[in-house]
Amino acid sequence: MCGIIGYVGTRDVPSVLLGGLWRLEYRGYDSSGIAVIGNGELIIRKVPGKLSELEALIKRQPVSGGIGVGHTRWATHGLPQENNTHPLIDCNEEIALVVNGIIENYLSLKDDLESRGHIFRSVTDSEVIVHLIEEDLDKGLVDAVRSTVKKLTGNFAFAVISVNDRSKIVCARHDAPLICCYNSKEAAVASDISGVVSIFNDVIYIPNDSIVVLGKGKCNITNFQGREVRVTPRKVTIDVKDIDKGHFPHFMLKEIYEQPKVLHNIINERIVGGRVTLGSELGISDAEMKKVSRILIQACGTSWHAGLVGKYIIEKFARIHTEVDISSEFRYRDAVLDSDTLVMAVSQSGETADTLAGLREAKVKFLKVLSLVNVIQSSIHRESDGIIEIMAGPEIGVASTKAYTAEIVHLYLLALYLGSLRGFVSKVDLEEHIAALTKLPAQVEQVIRLDDDIREIAEEFSDARDFLFLGRGLNYATALEGALKLKEISYINATGYAAGEMKHGPIALIDHKMPIVCVNPRSSVYDKMFNNIQEAVARKGIPISVVTKGDRRTRGISKHSIPIPECHECVSPILAVIPLQLLAYHIATLKELDVDRPRNLAKSVTVE
Ligand code: AGP
Repeated sequence: MCGIIGYVGTRDVPSVLLGGLWRLEYRGYDSSGIAVIGNGELIIRKVPGKLSELEALIKRQPVSGGIGVGHTRWATHGLPQENNTHPLIDCNEEIALVVNGIIENYLSLKDDLESRGHIFRSVTDSEVIVHLIEEDLDKGLVDAVRSTVKKLTGNFAFAVISVNDRSKIVCARHDAPLICCYNSKEAAVASDISGVVSIFNDVIYIPNDSIVVLGKGKCNITNFQGREVRVTPRKVTIDVKDIDKGHFPHFMLKEIYEQPKVLHNIINERIVGGRVTLGSELGISDAEMKKVSRILIQACGTSWHAGLVGKYIIEKFARIHTEVDISSEFRYRDAVLDSDTLVMAVSQSGETADTLAGLREAKVKFLKVLSLVNVIQSSIHRESDGIIEIMAGPEIGVASTKAYTAEIVHLYLLALYLGSLRGFVSKVDLEEHIAALTKLPAQVEQVIRLDDDIREIAEEFSDARDFLFLGRGLNYATALEGALKLKEISYINATGYAAGEMKHGPIALIDHKMPIVCVNPRSSVYDKMFNNIQEAVARKGIPISVVTKGDRRTRGISKHSIPIPECHECVSPILAVIPLQLLAYHIATLKELDVDRPRNLAKSVTVE
């Protein structure tokens, strides 16, 4: 998704803007630009391609000034070419605007604006905003923005500066994320805190449907009707090292290796005195939880896979009927949801448009929403009745890894919490689960130590055109997740499938060239999965099996086997996914692809 940055203050504006854009580039983009106001005029530098192109352009053609905005564009309307790159300017070249979002009614607005003589430089939907503001500039920049936001349909977050008032940045948001910071000397606005980390100690999460006037020592927030809105700044809880690769070549590898620490922190925080606690923002009382007769989890991508694992575990231990929907389906299917249904959203970013819309769909039906999110104060965090922060720390790599395992652990903990509350999980049972969880971080370490062996397997298959991933039960989701990891960073066609379903179609794909990743740790479905692997071998498929250490049966029929420690079935999806994360990572790096910023993808999909 697009990244926005704006700054006014005493530092070198182009450096602050570029530094912020570098830290926002994980959001995904295909062009970038900045606008600075210097000597009373707007100076624009923008270029398609990577931020290094923009940096080189600014080196060749330096700019300076006391205020500016910057943007990384993830194209939705119009090719990634210079004219469509933000910042976008008005006809008179007095204001510069950067936008994240989609203006759904832009065509009718554009027709009206062109009929009134406006000249459009781009084919983007966003450009209508700068011309609407231009039309009302005589009212002053703030009121021009206020009248403009009322004409827009869709979701948007934008920042605008004007040569006629170089002391302030005016920004607005509706359903797209935006934060701001300020002190006596400077102020900044960004799509998320990583854009301005290390400059400010406090951050303001801009409420939805707000307009902010930012300046040195100034931050005035009003709603779209002009009423003042008070927002308490929060301490910035991440620092540069959290969003820096350190000694790792890629964020994705760093985040894979961080999983033992993340899981250790979660277990330490969530298991206290032999009991499960889920944080102070659960927002739903035990009495309300006891009345829940159905849970509906809605999520996207990797978070949806975590939801699938959650379904099995919650039904097993809490005995609550649990279903899992892909958010983009849930939001439009008018699901039958009665008053004792608890809807859950699972989202690393807390900004995924479909999941946010699913949450709102539930609230329209007066249902409570409990969400698992990683980014605090994200839109999903703020709009949920209760949240469980998954505590994975900032996840920069587009391919989600540590957030996935953190989501699974939290769904496991929720199942135990609900099971204990409802009398299905005894104190003795709970001790067994806590023991399994307590061992988990060290076990993950053990699997990560197989990294070199997994890289060797990757070397053998990095030229494969197709992969099949098979799993059963709790590890059906592991197969789906392994396939998603591989396809999204290596661009290899990878299909995850329920192993029992293979004979209903995918078995036709299997030949001597097909690597098949088979997730078969010791479990209640081990024998069934073993039979499916034999069916694949009978068709000359090439099994790469994830097995429990010491398992000679599955290893004996597999081309390669990756051993994970003996473990409780409920944590096997966590241990089994690590080799698949590493396999995808190594294949992508062997293909010399941009692992952290795969083509066409964004870290947070804030559009439909
Ligand atoms: C996962 O590797 C992908 N980047 C993607 O599927 C992601 O999980 C999905 O977009 C959901 O994101 P969220 O968890 O932030 O809602």
